[in-house]
Amino acid sequence: MEGTVLWWLASVIGGLPLLLWLLWSWNEIRFLVPLKARMGNTKIPPGHMGLPVLGELLNFLWYFKIVGRPDDFIISKRERYGAGVGMYRTHLFGSPSIIGCSPAFNKFVMQNDNLFPIRWPAQDIVGQKSLVVLNGKAHARLRSYVSNAINKPDALKKIAKLVQPRIVASLRLWAEKGQIRGIEETKKVTFENIGKMFANLEPGPVLDELDRCFEGLVKGVRAQPINLPGTAYHHALQCRKILMAIFRTELEKKNGNGSEDGDDLMDGLMRIKDEHGEILCDDEVLDNIVSLVLAGYESTSLASMWALYYLAKYPDVLQKLREENNAVNNKKRGDFITNEDLAKLKYTNKVVEETIRMANIAAFTFRLVSEDTEYKGHMLPKGWKVILWIRYMHTDPNNFDNPMCFNPDRWNQPPKPGTYQVFGGGARICAGNNLARLQLAIYLHHLATGYKWELVNPNAKMEYLPHPKPVDGVEIAFSTL
Ligand code: HEM
Repeated sequence: MEGTVLWWLASVIGGLPLLLWLLWSWNEIRFLVPLKARMGNTKIPPGHMGLPVLGELLNFLWYFKIVGRPDDFIISKRERYGAGVGMYRTHLFGSPSIIGCSPAFNKFVMQNDNLFPIRWPAQDIVGQKSLVVLNGKAHARLRSYVSNAINKPDALKKIAKLVQPRIVASLRLWAEKGQIRGIEETKKVTFENIGKMFANLEPGPVLDELDRCFEGLVKGVRAQPINLPGTAYHHALQCRKILMAIFRTELEKKNGNGSEDGDDLMDGLMRIKDEHGEILCDDEVLDNIVSLVLAGYESTSLASMWALYYLAKYPDVLQKLREENNAVNNKKRGDFITNEDLAKLKYTNKVVEETIRMANIAAFTFRLVSEDTEYKGHMLPKGWKVILWIRYMHTDPNNFDNPMCFNPDRWNQPPKPGTYQVFGGGARICAGNNLARLQLAIYLHHLATGYKWELVNPNAKMEYLPHPKPVDGVEIAFSTL
């Protein structure tokens, strides 16, 4: 009897380290041994593939969710493996991956779209004909349509006129309320403007239904792609059907009326011709409207929310912003500003860049390695993902001095090459980057010239998933100047 107990004790004590070693090494053996056979002595980037199935997910959640120091995820790798050439191997979000966290490596990936194409896990939700999922020639063709419709000076001039009535009206309403949650109110005004910009829709039941469906869509994009009743993915597909039906009705109305006179983005996408005189088909227009709203809705509202936050935290910046904006053509509170005026507002444009840098709305972006590729003596294996950790570009003190300080004056000089990746880069650089900048600048103008506000919880904790924001959603006391 005693012998059996001892035997079990010895097995557990002896076996436990073996079990732990196996758990720790399983992914390394599973993914690296076949590579060694294929690639001989070529180095794989340093790092660790984490635990079976989970990979480094627990480590990621530890830094992003539990301790709230997201950048330590990369810093801990730099401390353990050295800065090297700015890439680490890992297993994260279900795939063996290379994390890219240096300006040069990220630029290399972004500028070689053919080697590193994009692969959206939720293509059915985003739309098979949308810009964000297409690659190669199909992508380039669509990209010129979309840029012309939303990101070029002519389009932006119209958009500047279109969005201001709602921005001005919503700020007035916030002042009447006296206290608001920034995240909710910036979402509301952003979506009203999206309705107006994209399909000339006014606030009302149709817009409310669209908003509800987009919320479902966003949740589905982030969820596991399991199409079973009850899952977020399934719900998102149902939401997509409703969205498409609503936008299709609008599109058919336009087709019936002839869209020559219309001024919204759907009209723009329907009308624009490529160099061969061809226009987009209805499904292309609809898929792209949906994916543009997806790309532009949350990002724009979060950037606006962060502007409220940082300007409350940095009153000197707000003061300089006010002085510059008050000097524009002696405008009164609520008077509209033009694109030409905005271009002259040098300090305002620096506040825009600094807000977007600090907001880190897109923490990372994904690519697929389409063939074995060597980078500075390290192999990126075919079939692995690349996770471009763009957040780290903006929080690394090697790239930006005192990076966590909100300092628009740092934009007196251009950033070091490749360090400012808020909008990505290369062929897939954000197709709405100028639109996002424009909306933020207009909003800053009206805020600064007419209103004052204070954070209700200046020391609110931060959360970082799915996007960085103070946990109170930027609650502020808001009033006219
Ligand atoms: C502050 C706001 C915004 C930020 C930080 C942002 C960030 C980004 C980033 C990082 C990418 C690159 C993704 C990648 O490389 O995989 C991207 C792509 C894209 N963004 Fe934005 N974005 C913003 C606003 C907008 C707006 C307002 C729109 C349009 C309404 C928009 C439309 C797009 C589209 C269509 C793409 C895909 C481009 C392509 O694949 O060719 N974005 N955005």
